[in-house]
Amino acid sequence: MSNDKLSVALFGFGCVGQGLYDVLNHSEVFQADIARICVKDPAKERRVAASLITFDKEDILNRNDIDVVVEMITDTEEAYRIVSRALGSGVNVVSASKKMLATYFSELHELQEKNGTALIYEGSAGGSIPIIRTLEEYYDNELLSSIRGILNGTTNYILTRMELEGRDYGEVLKDAQQNGFAEADPWSDVAGYDTLYKTLLLSIHAFGIVLKPDEVLNLGIQNISFADIRYAREKGLRIRLIGFAAKAGDKFRIYVLPHFVKPDDELYKVQYEYNGIEVEGAYSCKQTFTGKGAGSHPTGSAVLSDISALTYNYKYAYKKLNKLRRQRHEQGQTGNDLSLLDKDFTLKVYIRFKSKDELARLDIRHVEEEYRSPEVNFIIAEVGFSSLYALRDDIGQNLFVCVVA
Ligand SMILES: NC(=O)c1ccc[n+]([C@@H]2O[C@H](COP(=O)([O-])OP(=O)(O)OC[C@H]3O[C@@H](n4cnc5c(N)ncnc54)[C@H](OP(=O)(O)O)[C@@H]3O)[C@@H](O)[C@H]2O)c1
Repeated sequence: MSNDKLSVALFGFGCVGQGLYDVLNHSEVFQADIARICVKDPAKERRVAASLITFDKEDILNRNDIDVVVEMITDTEEAYRIVSRALGSGVNVVSASKKMLATYFSELHELQEKNGTALIYEGSAGGSIPIIRTLEEYYDNELLSSIRGILNGTTNYILTRMELEGRDYGEVLKDAQQNGFAEADPWSDVAGYDTLYKTLLLSIHAFGIVLKPDEVLNLGIQNISFADIRYAREKGLRIRLIGFAAKAGDKFRIYVLPHFVKPDDELYKVQYEYNGIEVEGAYSCKQTFTGKGAGSHPTGSAVLSDISALTYNYKYAYKKLNKLRRQRHEQGQTGNDLSLLDKDFTLKVYIRFKSKDELARLDIRHVEEEYRSPEVNFIIAEVGFSSLYALRDDIGQNLFVCVVA
């Protein structure tokens, strides 16, 4: 691979693909040839020469003059097939597809090891915030205790506007969709799945633990109402959807939940579509990274940085993952990492509910505060985490759960 003219093939020319195209064209130092762009819909108008476009992935995957495949499509299964094929045939890959990466991480990691290829994906978590390489490189030997982040711009935008404008969830979501800050189908964002995929990827690089999306709790803001925001406001707090991963003895506590945050918390200041990630280490203490967590150009710039890194043969060393595997092997532990997920602890949470029956599913150990009125009912209580974990299958429409710090 030569640094002056890298041959790059793109899969996807939507928000991220076009962002990359712009960023690449404006780069004064980095030179690459876009050899081909594979997309799906033949009816769409494109801003590049028709000769660059193909609708057949084989037009790229069968070539032997491509240095880097850049995968930026929304079809998770097809993305997995493309990335696997490229890695298996000796081509390095940059991807931004967090759902695909989190779902198929183990398989893709194995393919890299087997073929000596690199798969890097800075754009998949935190948008323009260079968090994955920071965890890999800067914190490679540091004993990290926790990582917590606002990792989804859409939900943060909705929460910010609800608070600042005193408006309810449905109205603000609709507005966000009209302004391009939320998808037509917002479920992955509002129900916390997008945050979950990113949290899983960050957990791999922070701690070496590999978990599947359906193994980790994600509760989002889909059931939030203005009553919750008002409660937070009265207490001088804000609500933020946070992806959390922390070491707890030999295990790890990992989940996605709405949290009340205090004014002295750096994440309190992260507003609108911005993301913020706080990393805490034994010696480095707390450090917070903020920036645009998504969008065409911010994500495109992260993808370009990855392409550039491949020119100097960069690949993730996965030091923490290798260390954890060694430790588990020495302790005679087999199977996947799910046994390392700690579910045996309590969390202090605010739970708004409609009828008290809805609380029966929860292992409520100590109620600190209870409020009942014709409009709003809530409790603040210590709750066994396992019972919250069980809600991930079906939280229903009436419960809103938020962690109290
Ligand atoms: N948007 C962001 O801010 C952001 C940030 C970080 C990561 N990501 C991730 O990046 C990926 C792309 O997101 P996006 O926002 O750019 O999506 P997008 O704007 O909807 O564009 C998706 C692109 O993928 C192409 N595509 C879909 N299915 C395909 C298939 N089977 N074969 C070939 N091409 C296919 C589409 O082709 P057509 O043009 O023909 O429709 C389109 O060009 C997703 O995995 C997303 O999660 C997005």
